[in-house]
Amino acid sequence: MKKIQIFDTTLRDGEQTAGVSFNLQEKVQMAQQLEKLGVDVMEAGFPIASPGDFECVRTIAQTVKNSSVTGLARCVEADIQRAYDAVKVGVSPQIHTFLATSPIHREFKLKMSQAEVLASIEHHVRYAKQFVDMVQFSPEDATRTEPEFLVRAIQTAINAGARVINVPDTVGFTNPKEFGELFAYLRTEVQGFEDVIFSSHCHDDLGMSVANSLAAIENGASRIECTINGIGERAGNTALEEIAVALHIRKDHYQAETNIVLNQLKQTSDLVSRMSGMAVPRNKAIIGGNAYAHQSGIHQDGFLKNPSTYEIITPELVGVSKSSLVLGKLSGRHALFTRLEEIGFLIEPAEQSAIFSRFKQLADVKKEVSDEDLRAMMSGHLYQDEDFCQLKSLDVHYNSATQQLAEVTITTETGVDIKGSATGAGSIEAVYNVIDQLMGEEVTLTDYRIQSITPGMDAQAEVHALISATDGSTYHGVGIDHDVLNASARAYLQAFSKRRIATKKSKSEVEA
Ligand code: KIV
Ligand code: ZN
Repeated sequence: MKKIQIFDTTLRDGEQTAGVSFNLQEKVQMAQQLEKLGVDVMEAGFPIASPGDFECVRTIAQTVKNSSVTGLARCVEADIQRAYDAVKVGVSPQIHTFLATSPIHREFKLKMSQAEVLASIEHHVRYAKQFVDMVQFSPEDATRTEPEFLVRAIQTAINAGARVINVPDTVGFTNPKEFGELFAYLRTEVQGFEDVIFSSHCHDDLGMSVANSLAAIENGASRIECTINGIGERAGNTALEEIAVALHIRKDHYQAETNIVLNQLKQTSDLVSRMSGMAVPRNKAIIGGNAYAHQSGIHQDGFLKNPSTYEIITPELVGVSKSSLVLGKLSGRHALFTRLEEIGFLIEPAEQSAIFSRFKQLADVKKEVSDEDLRAMMSGHLYQDEDFCQLKSLDVHYNSATQQLAEVTITTETGVDIKGSATGAGSIEAVYNVIDQLMGEEVTLTDYRIQSITPGMDAQAEVHALISATDGSTYHGVGIDHDVLNASARAYLQAFSKRRIATKKSKSEVEA
């Protein structure tokens, strides 16, 4: 079996999804889950982009011990230096530098000749090499680059010391036949192809990123760049879960394996979906809500006779549990912490009391507490940030014939309670009008989404709110509660809190 390395870029390319931005706490939490999932390398961010990005990459490099951490850098000395400063604390740091090679990028974006591009690659790969051995070079827009020039660019990078060559289909333009042929061509034309790691990085503009990545593997790639749930720039990137499970289920064909712990996929997907605010479509392969649901009579009949008639992947394989153990308000600490451990949360003794009392509150309003509820409760628990404003109380007066009235009390990050009231055409609008007043800043609600965590009348609501400030920056908040108005208020308040933290931070950075 050939080993395929998984390079996860959820925290970098994934964060380039329109409307998505992660704060430090969220990134660290996702990085820890990615480590548990078994990714070989994680790209934690683009350190030169902002002090916040730098801090995220540095903290993740410090925290993660079982995956390499890398940072992105343009072919610019300051970028590479900054990337190194961020990753150097890690156990096996890497630097990922890139430069576009296609004619359209050379002419219109870079205004560089072929010779200048080659000189820059040579110089910057060598420059990065003085800091770390694992230097990765990506010829951006490789699939629209003249093949002969692509070989020269890659050869230049290898000769300058690059240990990994990543071939990006930056605009999602290629197809599996072409991309496979491109790897086959590179394999014959590039000297030392076998001595470096060849990797693919595909975007999903034409819906072919997973198929393209698999074609790359069939033609010599030994590393795949991907993101959880396929989030990323425009139509997104190759979905990690699809690659990992395709290689596993079809190992007869691909003769390849990864280090991914498959039963961590569902949990990782849920976490990224919750933190990014990007819902997973029900029909999404591997982790979609319907991926293991059999609807038609013929299918159900076959499935009951023998599941493999219609099921090539068992839900358990990817961590979609069909647990028979349902917790409720009579469940004790032992049952709770055993179940949490089974679904991947090992709780430190110091944290157990707080988590148990949260569970009791939940079990008071929800008869049966499922694994999904527990996961939501845990992400809510980890989301409790002392810097965030907290919802203290909410009072809504609903009258179908008139405007709605909401009264809200918020405990601010300094511990002071502030209270206000406002009306609105609907209950949520009234609540949001009060929060606007109390927060004292004009923002636009650019997205609002509500979903239930489980089926049933007593289901908890999960609300996502995306706000954009007048300076164009966007902030995402999530609120989970058995009551939709409470969940809505929490989501909006969390988005505002992130805004306040970000502006406070940038003010102190300016002052410093
Ligand atoms: O899509 C792309 O080309 C990239 C590179 C930076 C690898 O994300
Ligand atoms: Zn990309």
